[in-house]
Amino acid sequence: MILQLLLSKQNRFCTVCVVVVLFCLSALSCEKAPPADVTDPGQRLFLGFTKKDVNCSRCHAQDGKGSDDGPDITKVLKKYDEDKIAEIIEEGKGLGEDAMPPFIDKVTEEEVDLLIGFLKTIQEKS
Ligand code: HEC
Repeated sequence: MILQLLLSKQNRFCTVCVVVVLFCLSALSCEKAPPADVTDPGQRLFLGFTKKDVNCSRCHAQDGKGSDDGPDITKVLKKYDEDKIAEIIEEGKGLGEDAMPPFIDKVTEEEVDLLIGFLKTIQEKS
């Protein structure tokens, strides 16, 4: 009886609609997939594709050149050694509303290394 109802022409159309709507909703709720050309795991982390709580590009922009929320970090490897940069990522930097938050609870040591590896690729030459 229910099956008959579902399979009647009109209802079949509704069933299709429901399936389509559910599919769209599930697609929307999924994390955005990284573009195929972004293969560096450090870059994927930096851009927020690997962990939803880790998105450096949100403040430093995708190319690291900075935004209103974070400074340009394309020269940091001249400014600090890698240990200091790891410390900044883990403990954050600055005070108050404009500070960088600590990521110690969000990234592993290995991921910090991956992030520093990516930072090396975006350093300005001069
Ligand atoms: C909510 C915004 C925000 C996010 C997200 C963020 N940062 Fe920052 N970052 C800042 C701000 C603001 C500063 C400058 C803090 C200061 O010096 O007072 C900063 C500073 C830095 C510095 C030092 C720059 C310098 O010249 O002193 C590095 C390196 C850095 N961030 C890397 C990262 C990395 C890697 C991530 C991702 C794990 C990240 N940041 C995520 C806001 C952010």
